[in-house]
Amino acid sequence: MTYPKRVRLVEMGPRDGLQNEAKPVPVETKVALIDALSAAGHVAVEAGSFVSPKWVPQMASTDEVMARIQRKPGVSYPVLVPNKQGMIGAIESRCEEIAIFTAASEAFCRKNTNCSIDESFERFAPVIEAAQKHGMKVRGYVSTVIACPYDGKVAPAKVAEVSDRLFRMGCYEVSLGDTIGVGTPAECVAMIDAVAEKVPRDKIAAHFHDTWGQSLANIMAVMERGIAVFDTSVAGLGGCPYAKGASGNVGTEDVLYLLNGLGIAHGVDLDAVAKAGRDICAALGREPASKVAQAMKAKVAAQAAA
Ligand code: HMG
Ligand code: MG
Repeated sequence: MTYPKRVRLVEMGPRDGLQNEAKPVPVETKVALIDALSAAGHVAVEAGSFVSPKWVPQMASTDEVMARIQRKPGVSYPVLVPNKQGMIGAIESRCEEIAIFTAASEAFCRKNTNCSIDESFERFAPVIEAAQKHGMKVRGYVSTVIACPYDGKVAPAKVAEVSDRLFRMGCYEVSLGDTIGVGTPAECVAMIDAVAEKVPRDKIAAHFHDTWGQSLANIMAVMERGIAVFDTSVAGLGGCPYAKGASGNVGTEDVLYLLNGLGIAHGVDLDAVAKAGRDICAALGREPASKVAQAMKAKVAAQAAA
């Protein structure tokens, strides 16, 4: 089996992880989380979204978050931008990287962003133009790459078509989201292979939600197909407000433990991430979803009691 020698992780906790929280999370809590994750060695920490506060209230404080985090050299802090209005916020907050997002299924695209897939691309055109003018990097997301909560199974060819459009539009990387976390390894490999006919494999990232517990198996499977960038969420926090019942991204701790076991380099300190996860879970009043985070929490508690 051939795995990459090195993997890059894009930490989703502060954005995908927190966007679905019902109670407002204080800005200082978000800032502490982001700073702890960058200090742990992450090179990319998604920091928030410039979306409508009516749609996703939790992300309304992204401007304040961006103003208060310690921007560590060499670390990117992407923010989601759906349209021109969001781009104004990103520019005012001096963001260096944005992420645009669409879907491979019409129904999800409409529920999530109130427009068709084609219309989402019309919205992106001026966003990309402004990003180029301001020297910002642009990442692209495709949601529902395996299945849609409203339309059912999604064809790999459709995922490839949407990914190709994002890549040709100027995204330096396209992240493929199994939004509802239903994919199995064979399906993920078929989907990735279809996309790779249009987008080079080293420009593809995988974004697995862990609803059905397949994420680690999926990561193993697509690593064998040359994918070396993974979106993960500290403590396995999160879900999408427009995909009811979907759980968070695969836990960062789970992926780090897996990569450590395989001897694959990643540059992130597992203990430091797990500590950041315990702190944010304590602040939210919840247990980590990540199995490795749970095991490490139990170990820390046992050591403290001994
Ligand atoms: P819309 O209602 O069609 O927009 O929403 P509109 O242009 O008609 O404007 C309506 C109102 O929204 C106006 O305010 C605008 O000012 C305001 P009003 O006059 O009613 O007071 N507005 C905005 N406010 C702040 N920032 C903006 C903005 N744009 C308009 N950028 C819109 C369209 C896209 C804005 C809306 O549908 C929206 O915000 N959706 C949120 C989508 C979202 O954040 N989803 C979660 C993230 S995606 C995800 O989790 C998937 C991913 O993780 C991958 C995966 O797992 O699959 C990435
Ligand atoms: Mg997601």
